[in-house]
Amino acid sequence: MPDKNMNIPVHIGIIMDGNGRWAKKHFQPRQLGHRAGANNFRTITRYANSIGVRYLTLYAFSTENWQRPKDEVGALMRLFKDYLREALRDFMDENIRVRFIGDRSAFDKELQELMEEVEQASAPKTGMVLNLAMNYGGRAEILRAAKSFAESVAKGERAPFELTEEMFSRLLYTGGQPDPDLIIRPSGEERISNFLLWQCAYTEFVYFDILWPDFRPEDLLRAIDIYNSRQRRFGGV
Ligand code: IPE
Ligand code: IPE
Ligand code: MG
Repeated sequence: MPDKNMNIPVHIGIIMDGNGRWAKKHFQPRQLGHRAGANNFRTITRYANSIGVRYLTLYAFSTENWQRPKDEVGALMRLFKDYLREALRDFMDENIRVRFIGDRSAFDKELQELMEEVEQASAPKTGMVLNLAMNYGGRAEILRAAKSFAESVAKGERAPFELTEEMFSRLLYTGGQPDPDLIIRPSGEERISNFLLWQCAYTEFVYFDILWPDFRPEDLLRAIDIYNSRQRRFGGV
C-alpha cells in the first residue's frame, strides 16, 4: 500500500505496451502476450482503485492498431469480448465506473453492445472512473471535436470567436474530466503514440523498461513516487 504521505495523482494514464515482446520472450505467440496483458489490466485497475486514483485511462487499442495482421486483430477483438463479459460479472462488485473512449462504430455489433452494457451497468458507481481507450487516437479525437464545434457554428448556435480551450476540452471523449497528471508507458518505448494529445499538455511522463504483462502494483507505486519527486510548474516559476 502507498505511504500515507504519498500524493496520489487524480488522473493516471497508462499505455499498456509490450505484450508482443513479452510473448516473444516466453517463446509464445503474440496472442498469449495479449492475454497476459489483459489479465494484468484487471490487477492494475483494481489496485489503482484501491489506492484512491480517481480517473484511470488505459490505452488498449489505437486507431493505428488495425494495421496489424488480421489474426492478431481478431484475437484482440475476442479478448475484448471475453474481458468485457467478465467485467460485467465481477467488476461490478467493485466501485468502478467504466467508460469507453474512441470510435466504437468500427467494432462489430456484439462488441458495441457489450460496451454499452458495461457502461450502463457501471454508470451508478461512485468510485474510480476507468476510461478504456479502444479504437482511440488523439488526432481523431481532436478532429471529432473540431467537427462538432463546426457543426454548431453551421447551425447558427455558436460563433467561431466564442470557442475557448475549456469549451473544446468538453467536446473531447474525456469531456468533464481533469487532464491526466501522470502518464506511464512500460515496454521501454518513450513516445506518446497518439494517446491523449490534447489532454497531456502538462502531464508528467514516466517510462519504464518493463513489459506490460510484468508491470506490478509496486511499479505503479514506483511511478507515483517519481511523479511526487517532480516539480510541476505549468509555465510558472
Ligand atoms: C500492446 O502491446 C497491446 C496493443 C497495442 C494492442 P504490443 O502488441 O504493442 O506489444 P509489442 O510492442 O509488440 O511488444
Ligand atoms: C500504443 O502501442 C497503443 C497501445 C498500447 C494500445 P503501439 O505498440 O501500438 O505503439 P507503437 O507502434 O510502438 O508506437
Ligand atoms: Mg507495442
